[in-house]
Amino acid sequence: MQVTGKVVVVTGGANGIGKALCEAFHNAGAAKVVVADMDAANARAVAAMVDGAAFKCDVAQEKDIVHVIEETERQFGPIALFCSNAGIGGGFDPMSENAGGASDEPWQRSWAIHVMAHVYAARHLVPRMRARGGGYFLNTISAAGLLSQVGSPAYSTTKHAAVGFAENLAISHKAHNIKVSILCPQGVDTNMLRSIPKGPQSGDGDLTPEQVAKDVLAGLEQETFLILPHPQVLGYMRKKTENYDRWIGGMAKIQAKMREEFGK
Ligand SMILES: NC(=O)c1ccc[n+]([C@@H]2O[C@H](COP(=O)([O-])OP(=O)(O)OC[C@H]3O[C@@H](n4cnc5c(N)ncnc54)[C@H](O)[C@@H]3O)[C@@H](O)[C@H]2O)c1
Repeated sequence: MQVTGKVVVVTGGANGIGKALCEAFHNAGAAKVVVADMDAANARAVAAMVDGAAFKCDVAQEKDIVHVIEETERQFGPIALFCSNAGIGGGFDPMSENAGGASDEPWQRSWAIHVMAHVYAARHLVPRMRARGGGYFLNTISAAGLLSQVGSPAYSTTKHAAVGFAENLAISHKAHNIKVSILCPQGVDTNMLRSIPKGPQSGDGDLTPEQVAKDVLAGLEQETFLILPHPQVLGYMRKKTENYDRWIGGMAKIQAKMREEFGK
């Protein structure tokens, strides 16, 4: 798809990758870029830069997603592209004393933001898109959803679930001309990455959000399901499927090294 002349929504658009996506869509001639974020001040600042609109929205709340969809379509017209991009880090434990050890709260928060937010967007947009003959979802996930993020069980698990939902969304609605892409980078230089110690996610180099946004535009143009700003990820996926046990062994070595470094 080309975003030129289209109405686009970006959740988590106030900062980082989402902000770069808003700028890239505006520069590519989108008719209106809607920035939906909990961080209302920065959402307004980004909207002002891209001649867009801002909504304060907690993507974990279905009613907030409904409000963004209804108001965007009422004010600006049909949403052609909905980007579920908001995400949270947290729960990083380099020592991994117990992968299931964290309390329910961070698990449920990750589940709500990384998975249910994508479900809510589909729940309320698929009927509208079907009625008008198609649409596009771009879901920012992570290489952690295809591989794993050592030391971050809640992040890895919910990002895997997000891949599962996106696959099903694409399969269910191919016949309805609804397209889906998943954006799965490794390290990207944003507040989220800076909030955790440097680790294997940066092994192939951190990208700028602007570079990632360029890759997204190219991926949307080609309408590929998988958008991999770090092309190495495809090789790691191949290695994982070729020999799962060897792959687990390799990841466990990374975990061991991490324990050694952080245990000093
Ligand atoms: N930075 C990386 O290295 C990296 C790598 C792979 C995937 N990702 C994914 O990219 C996406 C964007 O992350 P980023 O790196 O730009 O981080 P960031 O912290 O710079 O931006 C995240 C944005 O999401 C917003 N947000 C968080 N929770 C929200 C909620 N409940 N409702 C609405 N908005 C909310 C924040 O206010 C913020 O503006 C996330 O889904 C993240 O998991 C990031």
